Amino acid sequence: MPDTPARRVLVTGGTGTLGRHVVTTLARRGGAALRVLSRRERPPDLPTPVEWSRADLLSDALEPALRDIHAVLHLASAKGAGDPDVGAARRLLAAAIDAGVRHLVFVSIIGCDRIPLPFYGSKVRIEAAVRASGVPWSIVRVAQFHSLVDRLVRAAAALPVPTPIVADLRFQPVDEREVAERLVEIALGALLGDAPEIAGPEVATLGELAATWLSVTGRPATLVPVSVDALGSGDPAIPSPAPWARAVLEGYRAGWNTPRAECTRGRIRFGEWLAEQKKVAPA
Ligand SMILES: NC(=O)c1ccc[n+]([C@@H]2O[C@H](COP(=O)([O-])OP(=O)(O)OC[C@H]3O[C@@H](n4cnc5c(N)ncnc54)[C@H](OP(=O)(O)O)[C@@H]3O)[C@@H](O)[C@H]2O)c1
Repeated sequence: MPDTPARRVLVTGGTGTLGRHVVTTLARRGGAALRVLSRRERPPDLPTPVEWSRADLLSDALEPALRDIHAVLHLASAKGAGDPDVGAARRLLAAAIDAGVRHLVFVSIIGCDRIPLPFYGSKVRIEAAVRASGVPWSIVRVAQFHSLVDRLVRAAAALPVPTPIVADLRFQPVDEREVAERLVEIALGALLGDAPEIAGPEVATLGELAATWLSVTGRPATLVPVSVDALGSGDPAIPSPAPWARAVLEGYRAGWNTPRAECTRGRIRFGEWLAEQKKVAPA
């Protein structure tokens, strides 16, 4: 008789930036069967032991995806009108209760309860739904990924004119692979409730991160550092944010998106991550 794995883990968002690393980490580590939930077709090159459940969290029956599942790593997310992530999470939680799931790990964002971004509000509402659901849970708040900071700076640097960049925002970005490793440990371990947050090795301003980006990529862009205080000062070259957007920027400047207490700290710095990307896909 074939060995029946004791545990089976469902990863929602297993095709995403973070989810891809979670799937690779779980598959490499073994010790649990693995199922990915996605709206897409199963990729032809996916290793055979990885199970694939094609479903949309917003509309499809989720019972097949949750059958025989011990733990769920809920990473799926899509920005959009009408709070889609909250609806998706509620449907997933209801299905997890019916299926007798023993551990649901929800990935949230550090500072989501303090920085007034609408997307962060969704995270707060999902956290509350998870806590109230009756499914045994761990909630892990994570800092911005290196890939997100890369996209932010890349977008500003792509413009063919000198471009202002709000240099005094603070980040503690982290390598998605390190987040994936920790999430897999959590999913296969004991319930943590509110787990220690996960962030990178160091806090840096966006100005410092942009300087690192320019130096590692060697791109000839001109980024003009401006302070949050300079926004809306009347200089036509500097944008004037709406009051809510200013409050968001103030939150990042205050570092509310960085851990407040003891956290799990990655080791890979933004510059090291960037240099590695450059080797893999030269600019
Ligand atoms: N990016 C960051 O810096 C950061 C920082 C902290 C926390 N996080 C959180 O970490 C999680 C993963 O982020 P990410 O950047 O890896 O996300 P991502 O690359 O945007 O991937 C999103 C994933 O969600 C899935 N998805 C979206 N809507 C779905 C639906 N209706 N039904 C089923 N699947 C759906 C997509 O799967 P298919 O397209 O295959 O269906 C995709 O795999 C998110 O919760 C995010 O908020 C991100």
